[in-house]
Amino acid sequence: MAVPKKLVREVEALREDIDRHNYLYHSLDQPEISDAAYDRLFRRLIKLESQYPELVTEDSPTQRVGAAPLSEFSEVEHALPMLSLDNAFADEDMRDFDRRVRSRLDTEADIEYACEPKIDGVAVSLIYENGRLVQGATRGDGTTGEDITQNIRTVESVPLKLRGKDYPTRLEVRGEVYLARSMFVRINEDAAAAGEKVFANPRNAAAGSLRQLDPRLTAKRKLSMFCYSVGLVEGGELPERHSEILASLREWGLRTNPLVGVVMGVDECIGFYDAMLEQRPELDYEIDGVVFKVDRINLQRELGMLTRTPRWAIAHKFPAEEGITLLRDVQFQVGRTGAITPVAKLEPVKVAGVTISNATLHNMDEVKRLGLMIGDTVVVQRAGDVIPKVISVDHDKRPGDARKIALPKACPACGSDIVKPEGEVIARCSGGLVCSAQRKESIRHFASRLALDIEGLGDKLVEQLVDADLIHTAADLFELSRDQLVSLERMGQKSADNLLEALEKSKQTTLPRFIYALGIQEVGESTARNLATHFRDLDDLRQSSEEALQEVPDVGPIVAEKIHAFFAQPENEAVIDQLLETGISWASESPPEQGSVLAGETWVLTGTLASLTRDEAKARLQRLGAKVAGSVSKKTSCVVAGDVAGSKLTRAQSLGIRVIDEAELISMLERYGD
Ligand code: IVH
Repeated sequence: MAVPKKLVREVEALREDIDRHNYLYHSLDQPEISDAAYDRLFRRLIKLESQYPELVTEDSPTQRVGAAPLSEFSEVEHALPMLSLDNAFADEDMRDFDRRVRSRLDTEADIEYACEPKIDGVAVSLIYENGRLVQGATRGDGTTGEDITQNIRTVESVPLKLRGKDYPTRLEVRGEVYLARSMFVRINEDAAAAGEKVFANPRNAAAGSLRQLDPRLTAKRKLSMFCYSVGLVEGGELPERHSEILASLREWGLRTNPLVGVVMGVDECIGFYDAMLEQRPELDYEIDGVVFKVDRINLQRELGMLTRTPRWAIAHKFPAEEGITLLRDVQFQVGRTGAITPVAKLEPVKVAGVTISNATLHNMDEVKRLGLMIGDTVVVQRAGDVIPKVISVDHDKRPGDARKIALPKACPACGSDIVKPEGEVIARCSGGLVCSAQRKESIRHFASRLALDIEGLGDKLVEQLVDADLIHTAADLFELSRDQLVSLERMGQKSADNLLEALEKSKQTTLPRFIYALGIQEVGESTARNLATHFRDLDDLRQSSEEALQEVPDVGPIVAEKIHAFFAQPENEAVIDQLLETGISWASESPPEQGSVLAGETWVLTGTLASLTRDEAKARLQRLGAKVAGSVSKKTSCVVAGDVAGSKLTRAQSLGIRVIDEAELISMLERYGD
């Protein structure tokens, strides 16, 4: 039966109306009708489309969640690389940036800069062909991302169809997908109520939502997007200024940030930054700085770019965020090597939209340095994903009943003595393998990504296995039966089989991984690698003397003593023998291949890194061919600035040396397949 003409026209009119209201609401933030009136239009369209399915088109506003779940994402090669930005941390860095820009352009005159909040979300690329959204992709490593088209289609602020007519035939738009703070709070409340895992911050929640294989799940998360630049453009001209390009994007229905502006010269940049810092707490999305871009495209072209960052833009980062709260208690955690870490239990406090109730106190020296007592009012700081920390104490607010923080005499997990050798900062549980907390941590370490990489063996599962007395050491993992696994709470047959398979797979490893997995004190990934290269054979390493160990690069007397003591312990010997008996093996060690990507470069690490140790970062950079130096000089190629980076960072900035943060380091390491 043919569809009555009248209805065809009504469907078309409804779509046009809905698209227009979407545009008014999302792009212009000027809705003309109530939510209820919008819902009525939408429901009418759904009704007509379900009556006459032949009327459904791909870009109908009802078709945001059309696709079936995927089994995996396919890869997308970016036509133009998706760059990252150089960072400025202080006004002085901004002035240096501006000086570099003017000197390259050989001008004394003030430069016009476009200024935009730096959205803390996930970078994506959208491709419109003849005005139709045909692809959405993640940034990935900047060169290759993942095809997340079906998920992007669920983001209501992303138009499925551009407005107007004068858009290029092929237009790549780039921007940041994010989760509004209010949505984040709601999602976490729901997750907590359902006993599910909560997200640490809105950025993780946005990234996790975009990587759902089932678009219906992404749709539920109500993500948003701000567009901030274009990529490849064909079949059309764009204006000659960045700010005007953003205006064009807005006209075509794409959402850009309403707070963007254009200023003259660096003083106004700093003014813009200060104003944005003040406005930051009121925004319903997280921003971690302000991005400044030379506004004129011809000047951008003249300035060009470095390998991964343009010379015409910079991100002026905000300082880490702080909150004030009460210290309710201090608990002591036991690490893999028995190290006892005091953890602050706080009166929950919101810092930039994230509730913090725990913070690290590092060690007892730090507690002393802060002059901290239970009941004190403290300042906590959160920087990105790093574990929050207590940075200062308001001693004037100390209550009369404040209590001293004392290092316990016995381990909270096993009751063994806690010892703190003279002159050492770290107190340790002396229980060794007797201590279940240490055993759990060492098994977690054994299974971790850089060690044996046992997929599916998460923290919770290790805890369950140790608590149920099914395993005592890492070697026992390989003796686990399917029945034992299935007997565990929340463990299905499929997961049990997957874990057994992962365990089997992990048996084929490398010598450096195996040495690292043993969890010897002071032996990080890079030392493990050096030991493997030097000895080539596990037996030779096991039997080596302290003197022989000191011939290995980076192994001094203290580390040599720890390694020697480890292999001398009968319990450790037994575990290693048992591991070898289960069939763990590796190909013989050949001399390492010379990395080439960073050959000839000298890198410097400064500050604390959150997700990997200095040793690991160093070893991984070395594998890519870089030299890693301890101090910054004119020859330094790049400085990696972790948390609380100090004088090295300042020096790098004053020399105009490239500085990257931890996230960028990791994305680079991952990109080069390390
Ligand atoms: S411009 C060359 N503008 O920050 C231009 N980036 O470290 C590259 N970001 O990966 C990006 N807000 O994900 C630009 N207004 C903004 C931004 C922004 C957030 C992110 C983006 C990029 C990272 C750079």
